[in-house]
Amino acid sequence: METAEKKKIVLSAIQPTGTPTLGNYLGALKNWKDMSEGEYNCLYAVADLHSLTVRPEPADLRRRTLEMYAILLALGIDPEKNIVFIQSHVPQHAQLAWLLNCCTQFGEAARMTQFKDKSEKHPENVNVGLFTYPILMAADILLYQTDFVPIGADQKQHLELARDIAERFNTVYGNTFKIPEPFIGKVGASVMSLQDPVHKMSKSDPNPRAFISMLDDDNVIVKKIKSAVTDSEAVVKYAEGKDGINNLMGIYSCCTGKNFEEIEQEFEGKGYGDFKSAVAEAVVEELRPFKDEFNRLMNDKAYLTECAKAGAEKASHFAARTLSKAMKKTGLFQL
Ligand code: TYM
Repeated sequence: METAEKKKIVLSAIQPTGTPTLGNYLGALKNWKDMSEGEYNCLYAVADLHSLTVRPEPADLRRRTLEMYAILLALGIDPEKNIVFIQSHVPQHAQLAWLLNCCTQFGEAARMTQFKDKSEKHPENVNVGLFTYPILMAADILLYQTDFVPIGADQKQHLELARDIAERFNTVYGNTFKIPEPFIGKVGASVMSLQDPVHKMSKSDPNPRAFISMLDDDNVIVKKIKSAVTDSEAVVKYAEGKDGINNLMGIYSCCTGKNFEEIEQEFEGKGYGDFKSAVAEAVVEELRPFKDEFNRLMNDKAYLTECAKAGAEKASHFAARTLSKAMKKTGLFQL
C-alpha cells in the first residue's frame, strides 16, 4: 500500500447477515476479487456495525463475522496485498460517521429507499441506526479517500448520498474527501429471485428456493436452478417480459463470460431444460473452488484472526489520517 500510493483506491464492504448469495457474488464479490489482483489498492470490510441495525443474536453475529471474513479470503483475495478487515476493529468508522451525521439533512436520509423498505418490512424495530446506516457507509468509503466502490445496483443510492455528503463537507470546511465513483458491473448488478424474478435475490428471502447461497451443495444449486420460474415461450432470448430467462441469462453470462447474443445462439432450437442444466453446471463450476477453500480456512481460525488483526492495523493507519484531517477542519480542538 505504501509504495503503490498512486494506484486508485477501491473500497467495499458486506454485512455478515448470513451466507452471501449468488447475487452478492455476481453483483459485488466477483468484482472485488478481480479488482484485487494488482491494478488497485483494495480495502474490503466485513460491515459488522451495519448488521447491528437488524439486531442479530450476539453468538450468531460473532460466528458469521468470522465466516464472512473467511469467505472474502476464500474468494482468492490476498490479505497480504490488500487490506481485508472487520469494520468494528477500526474505530475511526464510527467516529467519522458522527461528523458526517452533522453534515446530512434529515430529508436526505429519509429519502433512502432501502430505509423505507426495511422499516416497512420490520415495523417492530425501526431503530435510528437503520436511518443513519447510509451515513456510516459514507464514513466507510470517505475514510480511505476511495476512488471506486464496487457494489450491486441496490447500493447506488447510498453511494450517491456519500458523494453528496463529501461534496457538502468539502464546500463547508475545505477540501477533505475524495469524491468516490460507484463501480457497477454491466451484467450481474441485479441478480433477481429465482422464484419471483422482479425482485432482487436476497439472503433474507423466506423461500430458500428463491436464492442460491454461495455455500449450497452442488445438488441443491442444480435443484434450485431447475425449479426457477421462467415463461411458457420456451425460447432462450433476452427480451422484455421474460424476467426469469433474462435473469438466468445474466447469471450464465457472468459465469461463462459469454454475451447474450452468444447465449441465444448456443441455445437456439433447444428448450429451457437444456438451458437450465447448462446454467446450473456453470454456477456449480464457478463456486466449487471457493467452497473448498472456505472449508479449509474455517479449520484455521488462528490464521483468520491473525489476518483480521493485521488488516485492522493497516486500515487504521489510513483511517486515522483522514479522520484527523476532518476533525481539524471542523474546528475540534486538537491536542
Ligand atoms: P450487502 O451486505 O447487502 O450486500 C453486499 C453487496 O452485494 C450486492 N448485492 C447484490 N448485487 C446484485 N444482485 C443482488 N441480488 C444483490 N444483493 C446484494 C450489494 O449491492 C452489495 O454491493 N450497505 C452495504 C454494505 C456496506 C458497504 C459499505 C458497501 C457497508 N459499508 C461501504 C460499499 C461501501 C450492504 O448492506 O451490502
